Amino acid sequence: MKQSSLALALLMLTIASASAQQAQISGNVAHGKTLYQETGCYQCHGLAGQGAPRTGPRVSRTEFPFDGFVNQLRRPADQMPPYEATVLSDQDAADIYAYLRQMPPPPDASSIPLLKTAR
Ligand code: HEC
Repeated sequence: MKQSSLALALLMLTIASASAQQAQISGNVAHGKTLYQETGCYQCHGLAGQGAPRTGPRVSRTEFPFDGFVNQLRRPADQMPPYEATVLSDQDAADIYAYLRQMPPPPDASSIPLLKTAR
């Protein structure tokens, strides 16, 4: 019993320090935009991060936590090419992440005239 509560305390400490580390990562939005375009993310995910059914999912305003985002870059889930740290550093990833997170939300469908049905 004592051992398991010690293990739990250690686990909680690890989680607390991991989230403290995560809070320290801050990205440069302008550099993130440059990287997003120059490393070719836009080719599959779209210039506005909107995604496309055949090339890659929407990434604008990504809800991935930062470490999950980096994990997808380093070890993609499926068909996305991997981006090793030698190609894209953790700071570069943080910059792209900051750029994607601050993107404006898509307009509401009711505000797009073409989507309004004629009555
Ligand atoms: C050749 C096409 C391609 C390129 C280039 C590409 N991706 Fe992807 N990306 C994908 C595909 C396809 C997926 C779906 C999962 C997979 O295949 O790993 C994906 C998934 C993602 C996801 C997870 C989205 C989700 O909600 O599941 C993120 C985040 C992401 N990409 C970011 C990036 C970033 C940042 C770059 C540039 C550094 C990039 N991708 C470059 C094709 C691409």
